[in-house]
Order: sequence, then structure tokens, then C-alpha cells
Amino acid sequence: MIGLFNEYRNTIRKKHLCNEFELIKCLKKDAAISSDLRSNAKQRAMDTVREIREQATPGLMEVFLVEYGLSTDEGIALMCLAEALLRVPDNETIDALIEDKIEPSDWGQHLGHSHSTLVNASTWALMLTGKVLEDGDGVSGVLKGAVKRMGEPVIRAAVSRAMKELGAQFVLGQTIEEAIERGQSQMRKGFTYSFDMLGEAAMTAADADDYFQDYARAIQFLAGHAVSDDIRKNPGISIKLSALHPRYEPRQRKRVLSELVGKVLHLAIAAKNARMGLNIDAEESERLEISLDVFEAVLSDPELASWDGFGFVVQAYSKRALPVLEWLYAQAEHFDRKLMVRLVKGAYWDSEVKRAQVEGLNGFPVFTAKANTDVSYLCCANRLGKMTDRIYPQFATHNAHTVSAILEMGIDPELYEFQSLHGMGEALHSILREKHGVGSRIYAPVGAHRDLLAYLVRRLLENGANSSFVNQIINEAIPLDEVAADPFSEISEGSPVVQLPSALYEPERINSKGLDLDNPVDLQILEQAREPFKNHQWQAEPLTATKSTSKKPAVWEVINPADMQDKVGAVTLASDEDTEAAINAAQNWESASAEKRGEILNTAADLYEENFAELFGVITREAGKTQNDCIAELREAVDFLRYYAARAQKLEQPARGIFCCISPWNFPLAIFTGQIAAALAAGNGVIAKPAEATSLTAFVAVNLLHKAGVPRTVLQLLPGEGGKIGRLLTSDRRINGVCFTGSTATAQQINRAMAGSLHPNAPLIAETGGLNAMIVDSTALPEQAVRDIVVSAFQSAGQRCSALRVL
Ligand code: FAD
Ligand code: 2OP
Repeated sequence: MIGLFNEYRNTIRKKHLCNEFELIKCLKKDAAISSDLRSNAKQRAMDTVREIREQATPGLMEVFLVEYGLSTDEGIALMCLAEALLRVPDNETIDALIEDKIEPSDWGQHLGHSHSTLVNASTWALMLTGKVLEDGDGVSGVLKGAVKRMGEPVIRAAVSRAMKELGAQFVLGQTIEEAIERGQSQMRKGFTYSFDMLGEAAMTAADADDYFQDYARAIQFLAGHAVSDDIRKNPGISIKLSALHPRYEPRQRKRVLSELVGKVLHLAIAAKNARMGLNIDAEESERLEISLDVFEAVLSDPELASWDGFGFVVQAYSKRALPVLEWLYAQAEHFDRKLMVRLVKGAYWDSEVKRAQVEGLNGFPVFTAKANTDVSYLCCANRLGKMTDRIYPQFATHNAHTVSAILEMGIDPELYEFQSLHGMGEALHSILREKHGVGSRIYAPVGAHRDLLAYLVRRLLENGANSSFVNQIINEAIPLDEVAADPFSEISEGSPVVQLPSALYEPERINSKGLDLDNPVDLQILEQAREPFKNHQWQAEPLTATKSTSKKPAVWEVINPADMQDKVGAVTLASDEDTEAAINAAQNWESASAEKRGEILNTAADLYEENFAELFGVITREAGKTQNDCIAELREAVDFLRYYAARAQKLEQPARGIFCCISPWNFPLAIFTGQIAAALAAGNGVIAKPAEATSLTAFVAVNLLHKAGVPRTVLQLLPGEGGKIGRLLTSDRRINGVCFTGSTATAQQINRAMAGSLHPNAPLIAETGGLNAMIVDSTALPEQAVRDIVVSAFQSAGQRCSALRVL
């Protein structure tokens, strides 16, 4: 069976970033959903939408989100306010935040727009708030100042109240006791609940432990309410694995399996004893593989035998959804269990798309056309309908067409249930219960405002997006047959709806390729490619146009700063004679046209990418960089080469002559290449003096540049001490400009040396170190600040010493 599981896992992996359009064609063909089913589903969906529109009164927040969706500046201002306001402890900051967000927006354009009087009244209030907060001059300014001071407490109270309402729309209670209490009326109508204790992406072991205790306490409390012998009728619990471990990430697989599985098993056993279902929520795509590992390890425990309540969430927007279902079914068969599988479309779409683009991945892990996600959902639902001997499908959606199509599939209503999120799709799910007698469960978040943020943002994105069903059904301007459109007829099989990561900068240039270290396939490629460079020793020497005449050149041995036993190679230093010879032989590159130079630099970019393994090997072992840093280094260097290659075509000024490029150790490839590429692209010749500590990396890079076609007279490398070689170069009048990145003190020395000898017009382009202060106020989410700001300051700024002082 292990072999078979491996096969399932390989199939899952193959689909990760596969071609969307080919996949959707296969899904459609394999599911063979008949045209009768499709037209019946559409008709049923149109009837349902009509019924909802006629009967139900949408909630205030739903209408509010339609008016102030994400497509307007005002909507975005409100979302930002909602996101941050609840965390702010003091009135002064609350006022400043409200002013910052409300005042600049154009509320007037929304006036009288909505069919809800309350939303229109809120628009009035927001517009007046903006006007009151607006600054003015002279007498009107004084008056406004007075109104502002008097009005602020009222505005503060009103906006804070509105934001709390927004939170309450999506959260059932601050405690599990309160949630059960508030859920009574729905339970009396026949709905069941799956409670979700808010909290995710724990940053510390203490946070993870708190979340674990929250889940354990909630299960204990809910046990008293799980009174049915039929587990499907009892309340359940949904958990997020990222809440339970601070390093729940693929690269920490060993640690995660040894530390997290036990915790999940503990909760699963408690849920089993309480006759409840426990569901593992689906999170970001990079965590899918590890979530399967954890799920399998827990499921295999004999203590869970005969429990039918272990559940897993599958996201239909993922290209891997269908093979994951097949894997789950095989697991259930193998361990002789019954599983609950919640099919959702997926809540992280925006961040999935953005991450793939930022990291230059080879495609998207999710579909990029809404109709494709809908079709994938229906194909998965169709497959689940044939797995009911082992799987209890839980179709979680608020989309009337999606539920209509599932109803048309004719699955026995006893064998599955529908699910919705608290605060969404209430009218639709009431109809499903009353008319079709299918079980319906509400996913209900429980917790304090401080843990609400991530969940709230996902709900705001979902409700505020024009493409979303919950948004469209309220907007009566959208005709029935559009809201209830058959996704199969809208399937996108042509060009990508969202630009592929590789195409982000087209037509000017192609984006640099990324590697995804969270993807086992990429990791394996990387590991294999790096193998020959794990013990390789590089021998660097000056790369000059003429042969070196040095008799007894000095040689430095290079040792890995992270492992003093690891000899990385040796560097033969450039002598004074080499420097003189290099300056003498140096030529500018005006012999080649800008187009030709661009072509060669683009070839160099390709060669950099082809030789990624050697570059990663030398950067890691010489500069002590991590794999992530290596990927960033290489991508930045490649981007520099292609960027300057393209931009040089537009330059009108002639080249300056010969540039001396002096680069630092902390970005041994990226800055080194960036300086050189800029000078070369513009037609200059270059003599490069790399940082002492990273000469081997520079040597590998210059060899690639030469291989690409940069002439040896145009690009020369002089490894050596800055105090010697650098000084000689920067005080030689045959040098026409200096490009330097490093300390301010050295930049000043260079400045003085240049002033003494070089032509007064010779430029010094210096990027020097500095001290940056970053103030994080209470409107920021601390976890986010730590993750994005501090971590990036340590990694990207490459400071020798970064310090964080929390005031
Ligand atoms: P629709 O409006 O029909 O569909 C919205 C979906 O389309 C979203 O997934 C969106 O990302 C996708 N979409 C939008 N634009 C595009 C595009 N251009 N290309 C491709 N796709 C697009 N989500 C999780 O991720 N993990 C969970 O564990 C989870 N648990 C849930 C539990 C329950 C009970 C419910 C009801 C939902 C859960 N969700 C979860 C959230 C769920 O993913 C969203 O509520 C859902 O996507 C909304 O789908 P819909 O059918 O209601 O709406
Ligand atoms: C989310 O947290 C509902 O699990 C889903 O967005």
C-alpha cells in the first residue's frame, strides 16, 4: 500500500502547477456531467435566486459590502479600518486612524446608491465624518477645528461600533459558551454547527499551546451538547494546524511530524469520545503536502478505529483537488475508516496568486478563472458522490448554482450535508433544509477580536469581490441568468486570466525564475543539482584581458564561514601589475550596438539561471547564505541583467568610458551583477573589484558573463584588498566613474581619492549603509510586523548587525 500511496502522492505533486486549461478540459471530460444535468441545474439555480431575492432580506452587512466592495477606494478604506481599529487601545490613535482612512475618500459618490436606507444613512455619516475631519484654513479652519474636536468622540464611538458589528457578522461568539447560546435559534431550526476557535499561524510555542488548550476546552464543553448517537447530527469542531505549531511548514517536516501529530491525535481522541466530528481546515497551498502527512499519521492510529468523524477539507480552486480526494478515499479504505470530507472552493485565492507571482513560480497552484474553480468544484462533488461508502461529503458553498448542480446529481440526501459560514448564505441554506431535507451545518468562528483579523480579512475579500456569488445575489442589477450561469459554458480554456509569474514584466522582459522550497519536487531538483558542488573547491584568479605577469601572487584560502572544516577554494589576488595591465587594456563596449549588448546580457541571464546549482553552491559555502537567500540573490541578479539589457535600448547618452565597480559581501551575486550590468548595458567597460570575502562567487559570475559574450577587454575582474586594489583603481585618472556599495566611511575615502585624481565629471554612484528606524504602532498586527518587517530587515537588508528595540 505504501507504494500505492506514493503513486497517489506523485499524482498530487504533478498537478501542483500544471496547465490550467489542459486540466480543466480533462476534469470536464472525466466527470462527464450531462448537458441535461447542466440545464436543469441552471434552471433550478435561477428559481432559487429569484426566491431568495423575493423573500429574503439580506443582512445589513451583506448590503454594505456590496456598496463598499473592494473595487472602490472607499471600500478599501473601510476594510483597512475594520482590520486595524479593533486592536488600537487609545483614543488618540483611533481618531488618527479614522481620519487617515475616512477623510481622503469620496463618500459622496455612494450617496443614495444602495437600496438599503440604512446603508445610505451610513454613507451620509461617512461623508459628514470626512468633511468634519477635513482640514481647512482661516476662519473656516478654526470652525472646522472646533467641530472636529467636539465631534471626535461621537465619530470614534460610531465607527468603533460599526467595526464591531462587522466582526460580529462573521463571529458567533467570543466564547464557546456564548456561541452555543447564540446558535440555539438556528439549532432549533435543524441546523448543526462546526465550531472554529479563532486563531491561526501561531508564531510562538506559547501561542500554539494556548490555541491547543482552546480547542481541547471547546471539545470538552461541546461534549455535553453532542447528544445524538448519530455523529452527523452532533456539533463538530474545525481546527487549523497552523494554530497548533509555530513552525507548521514543509521545511520543518520532521519536527512537525514528531511534535504536531501527537497534539492532533489528542484532540481527535477527545472528539471521538465526545461523538463529534473533527475537521482539519485547508490553509495555504504550500501546506497541503504536510497536512496530508499529518492527517495520515493521525488516521493510522488504532485508537481512532470505528470513529467516522475525522474530517479533511479539500479546496476545489486547487489544481490538486481531485487527486487529493482519490488519496483520501484510498486512506479510508486502507485503514478501514469512514471519513468526512468538506469540499470548499478555497479562501486564500488572492494570496495564492500573489505568492506565485512574487516567487516567480512556474505557474499558479490555483485556477485563475472563477468558472474553472466552479467547474472543478462540481467535478469533485460528482466524484465524492461516488465515494459515499467511505466518505461523508460536506458540500460547503453559498452559491445557488453550485448547490443546484449537486442536488441534480441525485446523491442520496442522507449521505451528505451542505455547509455554510456563519453570517453568509443564510437564505439559501434555509431553503435547502426546508425544501430538500438535506442536512446543513454552519461553520461558526468563536473567539476574541484580537484573533479575528485573518479570518475577517478573508471574509471581507470574499464578500467584497465582484465575482463572488454572495456579492452578486444581492446586486439586483445583475440578471438572474448571469448570477445563476452554468460555469461549464463559461469555462476558460484560452489565455490566462491572471498574468503568469514569468510574464509579469512582458513585453519588456521575462521575469526571473523562482524555485519553491516548499514544493518537494523543486526541493529534490535543487538537492540533486547541488550535489556536485557540496565538496567542490573553486580556484579564482584575476580575469584580465592580458596574461598576469605577477611572479609570486598572494593567495587566500577560502573557508566556509558556517563550517570551518569546509574548504571552499582559493583566490589568487590581483597584484599592482595586474591592476595596471587591466586599466591599460580596458575598453569601453561601444563597438557593440545597444541591441547586441542587450542580447549578450540576456544570454548571461539565461546562463545564470542554467548554472543555478553552482551559483547556489558557491554562495552558500562562501557567503554563508541560506537556500532562500540564494534564490533571491540569483533572481535579483537575473532581473538586473534583463532590466538593464532592455532599458539600455532607450538610452540616448554616449558611454562614459571605463567604470570601476566595487561591491559588498552581503549580496555577492546580486549587487555585484547589478553594478556591472548597468555599466555594460550603457556601453561602458568595467573593472570589477568584488568584496574580499566573496571573490569566488564573483569569479563564477564573471566567467558566465564572458561565456555569454562580454569581451575580456570590456569586463575584467580584480580580486584583492579594497585598501590596495580599490585605492589604485579609484585614484587612476583613466577611470571614468565608480560604482560602489558599502560603508559610508569607505565611500568617503573613495570620494576623496577620486577628487584628487579623476576627471571632475567622473561620477561616484555610492549606495552606502545607514541606520533605519521603523516605528510599528498599535494599528499593526504584531505577528505581521515580525514576519514581514523584522524578518525582511534581517534577510534583505543584509546588515551585519540588526537590532530590534521594542518601546
Ligand atoms: P463563489 O462566489 O461561488 O466562489 C468563490 C470562490 O471562487 C472562492 O474560492 C474564490 O477564491 C474563487 N475565485 C474567485 N475568483 C476566482 C478566479 N478568478 N479564479 C479562480 N477562482 C476564483 N476555505 C478554505 O480555504 N479552507 C477551509 O478550511 C474552509 N472551510 C470552510 C468551511 C465552510 C463550512 C465553508 C462554507 C467555507 C469554508 N471555506 C474554507 C471558505 C470557502 O473557501 C469560501 O467560503 C468559498 O470559497 C466561497 O465559495 P462559494 O461557492 O460560496 O462562492
Ligand atoms: C477560513 O478560515 C473558513 O476555514 C475558512 O477562512
